[in-house]
Amino acid sequence: MTNKLFSPYTLGPTTLSNRMVMAPLTRSRAGDGDVPVDLAVTYYTQRATAGLIISEATQISPQGKGYPKTPGIYSDAQITGWKRVTDSVHAHGGRMFLQLWHVGRISHPSTQEDGILPVGPSAVKPAGKIFTDTGEQEFVTPRALELSELPGIVEQYRQAAQNAKAAGFDGVEVHAANGYLLDQFLRDGTNQRTDEYGGSIENRTRLLLEVVEVVSEVLGADRVGVRLSPYSNFNDMHDSDPVPLFTYVAEKLHGLGIVYLHVIEPVNADHPMAMPESKTAPIAPVLHKAFGATFMLNGGYGKETGTAAIENNEADLICFGVPFIVNPDLVKRYETNAPMNTPDQSTFYGGGAGGYTDYPALTG
Ligand code: PHB
Repeated sequence: MTNKLFSPYTLGPTTLSNRMVMAPLTRSRAGDGDVPVDLAVTYYTQRATAGLIISEATQISPQGKGYPKTPGIYSDAQITGWKRVTDSVHAHGGRMFLQLWHVGRISHPSTQEDGILPVGPSAVKPAGKIFTDTGEQEFVTPRALELSELPGIVEQYRQAAQNAKAAGFDGVEVHAANGYLLDQFLRDGTNQRTDEYGGSIENRTRLLLEVVEVVSEVLGADRVGVRLSPYSNFNDMHDSDPVPLFTYVAEKLHGLGIVYLHVIEPVNADHPMAMPESKTAPIAPVLHKAFGATFMLNGGYGKETGTAAIENNEADLICFGVPFIVNPDLVKRYETNAPMNTPDQSTFYGGGAGGYTDYPALTG
């Protein structure tokens, strides 16, 4: 029987050659001005046999930047850099979405322009430390965004979607996961606002929905996906009652007609983003039902688990992270049951070609 993982998939107007998606993966190798460089063209092109590539998280503005050397999509040079990536990926038969990122409080004055404070829904400091140009530093307490600033944030997303279109992407993924700005608004551990963007589930979801609406106006909702990580505690996140919150989010996103919902729910307990709750009460099936359209799962999947998730109708598309970092030709390796390359964690973030573009493909 043919394995559905390798069968084409129609994602709105975009035809994917298979159901294996390359996860958005921060690699911290952008050049001056946070522009994707030649190596990025090589890296993504090497992986163009993925059914869909989701770009590394890409800041929509200088304020949205959280770590050194992550790329942006707000300057002309960044648009030009990304256009070189998409042209090459397309020339090799691939499809590519850009992940739109605003980090909110997960930043540091040394990563912000003029050393200003990062912003968040509320002045709630994350526990722990953040990587900066001068090594790890304590998080600072972010500045709570004024109500009057929120239309400006939505505008940053609208412009970023426009820029993604100019850069030739097939669509965008709105990053509402992993404790970054939109997730900070969703969850009540970080959102303590008392205006119409805080308090009730409806209020906490408002910013995400406004963002998705404007981005969809620019690109068409059939070129917009959203990523959520409902149970993840990564970046010191929590919510008092995630199931009703994220069920509401999934239903509303379906109402806006977006093309896919992407949920991080690790399949194994030793995954870096595994969290206690998911072991007792999986939320992905609830969200799949509530969304009711193309559903993408991510979190420690391999060939067998990914195939099973598709065969069992748990998901339509499976997202692979580390396997795509270390195997540029992952699709072919899965198809032929070839051995996998070995990950070198020390080169995941930062550096040059080593551990980025030099993982070998199969020969012959
Ligand atoms: C990271 O750089 O560690 C990172 C970036 C984006 C994510 C998660 C982790 O969504």
